[in-house]
Amino acid sequence: MLAENLKDQTLAYHQQLEKKLVGQIKGLTSQADYLQLLQLFYGYFGGLEDRINLFINQEQMPDHAQRRKTEAIADDIIALGGQPVAKATGNELPEINSAEQAFGALYVIEGSTLGGSIIGKMISGKLGLNTGLSFFNSYGENTHQMWASFKNILNNQPSDTEQTITEAANSTFLKFKNWIEQHG
Ligand code: HEM
Repeated sequence: MLAENLKDQTLAYHQQLEKKLVGQIKGLTSQADYLQLLQLFYGYFGGLEDRINLFINQEQMPDHAQRRKTEAIADDIIALGGQPVAKATGNELPEINSAEQAFGALYVIEGSTLGGSIIGKMISGKLGLNTGLSFFNSYGENTHQMWASFKNILNNQPSDTEQTITEAANSTFLKFKNWIEQHG
């Protein structure tokens, strides 16, 4: 199945990104540090969602409107007294010129809700925050159900799209790692 293959094919890139982020999160000592982390996600996910939305709408994904992440990040930034930053553009983003490539990028964004719950707990435990965590709390107790329904949509894509989706997913992981290296 496409979703299972994607997990295998992107594992190395996920691990590299996870390692980088765990290091960053362990180093957080203040609300200002957390704000910077949110701004990192805002810049990259914001640019990414703007591209994705050119190719994916309610037709391909009926609950598309519910899944947007950039707004949640902006809400968290504002709740903590910060300002959203400039979004990634051009070569800072993976190439997204088709619905298939957009699905590859969406796989990374939607999958981040799984690690997000772990990140949210790490941060709230470390900083004792009770606000500004809506993005990392993702879909709350519906997170696994939302992930299962996203995988269903992926598995219904034609099988000849698998390579394009996989390449776009890996590029999305890699470019996020680059973005963190440059802006973190
Ligand atoms: C501290 C950082 C992170 C940790 C500890 C982490 C941890 C995890 C864990 C435990 C899962 C599997 C959950 C399950 O199967 O129920 C997972 C899945 C996933 N994560 Fe992460 N993650 C992190 C960051 C990220 C980020 C930043 C992204 C994307 C930008 C991401 C993308 C994904 C994807 C796409 C999957 C789905 C894999 C699959 O196909 O099943 N993760 N992550």
